[in-house]
Amino acid sequence: MPSLPPLLPREVDGYLVELVKAQFADQVLTEMEIRADQYGFPIVGRAVGRFLELQARAIGAKRVVELGSGFGYSAYFFAGAVGDDGEVVCTDTDPDNARLAEAYLRRAGRWAPVRYHVGDALEGLADVGGELDVVYCDIDKDGYPDAWAAAADRLRVGGLFLCDNVLWDGRVAGLVPEGEPPERAAARAAVTDDIVAMSREIASDPRYISSVAPIRDGVLVALRVA
Ligand SMILES: C[S@@+](CC[C@H](N)C(=O)[O-])C[C@H]1O[C@@H](n2cnc3c(N)ncnc32)[C@H](O)[C@@H]1O
Repeated sequence: MPSLPPLLPREVDGYLVELVKAQFADQVLTEMEIRADQYGFPIVGRAVGRFLELQARAIGAKRVVELGSGFGYSAYFFAGAVGDDGEVVCTDTDPDNARLAEAYLRRAGRWAPVRYHVGDALEGLADVGGELDVVYCDIDKDGYPDAWAAAADRLRVGGLFLCDNVLWDGRVAGLVPEGEPPERAAARAAVTDDIVAMSREIASDPRYISSVAPIRDGVLVALRVA
């Protein structure tokens, strides 16, 4: 069965990744990418990772909460942005991910600002007191509307809500990728409305200015202005 080409042609995506790789090399990061490949674990990848770091650095972020951290790949970039005196709270339901994240990030010299909450992401967010600079969302997609609802009031003015997979391979615009196993296709289609609902909520919230960077599967950036 023919498959819909990726939104960003593979060659263009590869070019963006190469541009980031040219900026720095880190054996640990490469090992994390190899693990993701081996186990089919959905990390954000280099181009999005560096983009997230750039967003955090641009606002001088010191306090970041990640909703859905996996084994620490995206946290690697946020930890670089906030520095050792910052704070990156990781969240994930899987304790194995927490252990792996600590091992990788320690070796990379990026564990100092990290605290890892094993359990529900929104409970982890609720446990963190005070105003936040960045909330980054990458949990199961049916949780996106609730994640936004929980994060929107917690960010300082000038803070950022960042969210991955908001283009969902084009499903948000009615495209239907072909060639997927039916079970996977049905599971992904079932949560498309949740991604759209969250994105529309954000777009109509007068406190936020937002846009979507169409890197990989789409990264939403929403800046709190009021
Ligand atoms: C796409 S992966 C995260 C990848 C990570 N952001 C990265 O790029 O390295 C999503 C992760 O979120 C976790 N997860 C999904 N829903 C969650 C929830 N409601 N609370 C906590 N963790 C959740 C899963 O266990 C999984 O490890």
